[in-house]
Amino acid sequence: MTGPGDALLEVEHLAKRFGGVTAVDDCSFTVEAGTITALIGPNGSGKTTVFNLITGYLRADSGRISFGGRTYARPDPAALYRRGLSRTFQQARVFPELTVLDNLIVAAGHRWRALFGPRHSRADVERAGGLLDEFGLAGHADEPARELSYGQRKLLEFASVLMSEPRLILLDEPTAGVNPVLIEAMERHVRGRHASGVTFLIVEHDMNLVMRLCDPVIVLDRGTRIAAGPPDAVRADPAVLDAYLGG
Ligand SMILES: Nc1ncnc2c1ncn2[C@@H]1O[C@H](COP(=O)(O)OP(=O)(O)OP(=O)(O)O)[C@@H](O)[C@H]1O
Ligand SMILES: [Mg+2]
Repeated sequence: MTGPGDALLEVEHLAKRFGGVTAVDDCSFTVEAGTITALIGPNGSGKTTVFNLITGYLRADSGRISFGGRTYARPDPAALYRRGLSRTFQQARVFPELTVLDNLIVAAGHRWRALFGPRHSRADVERAGGLLDEFGLAGHADEPARELSYGQRKLLEFASVLMSEPRLILLDEPTAGVNPVLIEAMERHVRGRHASGVTFLIVEHDMNLVMRLCDPVIVLDRGTRIAAGPPDAVRADPAVLDAYLGG
């Protein structure tokens, strides 16, 4: 078991180049169990690429990660998902032609047969129904996900990753393009899940939200960690100001 204060995720010396572009450069940091950790940095500083490297959507040129005490030189999204590491995408990824309910059902551990078979597992349907209630989406359960607003799709994606009962959730800009009411909902859900023991690593551009929700805050610039610490210390760090203002 991993308890509060232990390193749940360790990122060690990750590097990734795309042709001539160094997107991630000797990047190392730790996410402690029980935290809501922010990963911030200017546009193009490598945040999404770091998420892709951690979760195995991209292969790192070098470096490795450890999650829950196991080291992965070549992380695999499905294996990590089964072990309790889930993520969302900067452009919310839902299955647009599936109903809102079925989006949750298929997220319950990639049980595709459950979807096409004679009936869903009752436990999955109950869990999904509970999440749809919690996320205010119950009224849309039988609509195709494409009918949802952008913000609702982001909430659905968040609800979907909860079907796997993850220990660590990586959120890539959960509030970007989302209206204020749904931003509040998103924050409430993060706080609620955090209170029940889920650890978060969140990429977010809304600094007010970062400052009130996250601790610690890790700052990337040009693919490298340039600061990490409590929000107030990071906000006052000249290197961080330089990164944002220097362009
Ligand atoms: N698939 C790719 N092919 C080529 N270059 C890429 C690719 N993905 C990212 N990059 C480049 O790598 C760098 C880091 O991009 P990344 O998307 O990780 O940044 P980010 O911090 O998530 O930015 P944003 O805040 O705008 O989402 C950028 O220069 C970007 O153009
Ligand atoms: Mg990004």
